Amino acid sequence: MHTEHKNHANIYLDRNESQFGPAPECFTILRRATKNELSNYSRDFARGVKSVLSETLAREYDIPETNILLSYGIEDMLKEIVHCYLAKDEIIMIPQHSWWYYKSVASEVSGKVVEYPMHANKDRYTYDLSEIVSLVRSVKPRLLLFASPNNPTGNSLSMDDVKLLVNECTDTMFIIDEAYFGFTDISHNIMPQLTLHYPQLAVLRTFSKLYALAGIRIGYAFVGKNYQKLITFSARYLGYNVLSEQLALAALRDKKYYQSLAATMATERERYYQFFRTVEGCTAYRTDANFVLVKLPHENSDSLKKYLTEPGLVIKFFAEKEFSDHVRITIGTPEQNSLLLNEMKKYFARKSALVSNQG
Ligand SMILES: Cc1ncc(COP(=O)(O)O)c(C=O)c1O
Repeated sequence: MHTEHKNHANIYLDRNESQFGPAPECFTILRRATKNELSNYSRDFARGVKSVLSETLAREYDIPETNILLSYGIEDMLKEIVHCYLAKDEIIMIPQHSWWYYKSVASEVSGKVVEYPMHANKDRYTYDLSEIVSLVRSVKPRLLLFASPNNPTGNSLSMDDVKLLVNECTDTMFIIDEAYFGFTDISHNIMPQLTLHYPQLAVLRTFSKLYALAGIRIGYAFVGKNYQKLITFSARYLGYNVLSEQLALAALRDKKYYQSLAATMATERERYYQFFRTVEGCTAYRTDANFVLVKLPHENSDSLKKYLTEPGLVIKFFAEKEFSDHVRITIGTPEQNSLLLNEMKKYFARKSALVSNQG
């Protein structure tokens, strides 16, 4: 029997995890963790707030602390929202191509999923707003969910898009999953403010992606006035993970670190676009996130998967039929991207050589 042993670890560019690490102060905080941070419940509830983190977010965004909710990541927040609001056979509308979890959480409450279409233009996916509005009018969903940027297509809603949609869709709970916030346009940072004006709107964010803190499991939501039931439903009297919150606060303080990280990300994304432009039959869709979505020449996905096993490069291949000839690549560090691009270059060079030999 022949078993191959690679003498290097895999590089995982398949789950949209940050390869850059969080702000340096996070590691200082971990080294200096105190007995109280580990042994005590927080006493913030007695002060009338959820935690120092929700207080800080309230100050940063100028939004009342009562309207900022915390959770163990967006995964957990979505579960709370769906379990709080979606009854059996009620409808949740989600993007046609999206994170698999949306369907899974809806099925936990026997909710019905209606997908609204997404469109692939030349090199970017888009939401068709008028199509969505007319579908909302006919389907009358209880929950309407957007991801901005969306996973795996990477396209976003602008402020104007959101305003148009919330003005048209007033009778549905309107949720925007902004897990991949911050990798491009920083003006999106005022999106949470809209929850002050639109009671049906909730904007969900996380420390998992831009902040490179997926392991601390903290997500947060800005919610409009209609979310009173969720505010009660999600209350935690003994507080949250004290140490995780300290790390999140350190990340929020270091704006410079994350701005430079977003800039590096933009440069690195561009390297992928440039490269795929040189490969016949490939389309790399422009995204606003820490990943790129690539359509491969039809026959390539299985053989590419095999080819990347030896160098230990793991990217996302899809089980869904409509994306069986697509891959999603999480943007890594410049060194990791060079490795992957180099292997891809060799792979596609070999492929075109094979094609011409056969011909
Ligand atoms: C669109 C989207 N939202 C949310 C999440 C998970 O976020 P969190 O780590 O905060 O649970 C993911 C994870 O990949 C995602 O793709």
